[in-house]
Amino acid sequence: MTDVSFFYLFCILALILFALILLGSLALFLLITLIVCPRPIKIPIKGRHVFITGGSSGIGLALAHQAASEGARVSILARNPDKLEEARNSIRLSTGIDVAVFSADVREFEAVRRVIDEAGSIDILICNQGVFVPQELETQEIETVKFMIDINLMGTFHLIKAALPGMRKRKDCGPASIALMSSQAGQVGIYGYTAYSASKFGLRGLGEALQQEVIADNIHVSLIFPPDTETPGLLEENKKRPPLTSIIAGSSGAMKANEVAKKTLNGIKSGTFIVPCNFVGLLLSIATAGLSSQRSSLMAFVEVAAAGLLRIFALGNQSKWYKSIAKWHAKKEQ
Ligand SMILES: NC(=O)c1ccc[n+]([C@@H]2O[C@H](COP(=O)([O-])OP(=O)(O)OC[C@H]3O[C@@H](n4cnc5c(N)ncnc54)[C@H](OP(=O)(O)O)[C@@H]3O)[C@@H](O)[C@H]2O)c1
Repeated sequence: MTDVSFFYLFCILALILFALILLGSLALFLLITLIVCPRPIKIPIKGRHVFITGGSSGIGLALAHQAASEGARVSILARNPDKLEEARNSIRLSTGIDVAVFSADVREFEAVRRVIDEAGSIDILICNQGVFVPQELETQEIETVKFMIDINLMGTFHLIKAALPGMRKRKDCGPASIALMSSQAGQVGIYGYTAYSASKFGLRGLGEALQQEVIADNIHVSLIFPPDTETPGLLEENKKRPPLTSIIAGSSGAMKANEVAKKTLNGIKSGTFIVPCNFVGLLLSIATAGLSSQRSSLMAFVEVAAAGLLRIFALGNQSKWYKSIAKWHAKKEQ
């Protein structure tokens, strides 16, 4: 065979291979489109009651600003009344809109129920309150572990239990949403975050099961997974981070609270179940898609196609983290 005919044969084989891959991908995409469930949905927020916990600071405050400027009726909840008043004034100053403020501790179910009864039926519930105290479990006080689980996880149960009856009877019958603020530490366990990760992983189980329980009421659950975000909470956390936590978690950089709020509201409005906030978050969401629901055929296709490759990436990442831990201990022993 001459060089020229060998070249033509190679081109024809490459074309056939390309056509087969294209047809296979198309067939896979069509199959995924047929089975993807629940179906895509739009959840309007204009003119609707958006109730945001932890709305006096950081991501919650940015969410309140954005929801108010998009024409929602906004209520915010937190413990400190002075910080709530400050938040109300800053939102009024920037949007000209008055938000309702409620002071309560999400750890107290009766207090949460009273506030939600007073606030009136909710269309979009954003459970954003959260505390994070990083420390190795061996040295962390059990009260601190309980503090995180109680506020981040049990507090969210309290909010949903209190809000759900009113949400089910909401007047406009339009699609409603329950959004849970998790964290990238709720997708992957990170050194120093045993209690925090447990509280945030817990939200995922809550969200997956809850979605099945409330879908018949046209209520849609979103789980938000932000990376480090510039907020007063992160500023405090940074002072206590064990050095190894910084080495491992510090690599992805911090987002602005406004950007995370924008991703959150967009995720809620499109009824997206898993809402990543940056590129690393997108990779994490694909890698941990598991049995979670997915409304977008395109994203489902990407999840299927990228699964194997991302597992290799995840293994490489774990190897890097364990090497950092070994190096750290070796240095300490010297
Ligand atoms: N910042 C980050 O890097 C980051 C990254 C991933 C995920 N997140 C998550 O995003 C959420 C917001 O974080 P952030 O950084 O914006 O926090 P932040 O600036 O510290 O604000 C926390 C908010 O939650 C409220 N809160 C705390 N404990 C409460 C309680 N027991 N009852 C009612 N409200 C309570 C606080 O108000 P009071 O203290 O007055 O009650 C405040 O309004 C949290 O769930 C956090 O886990 C944050």
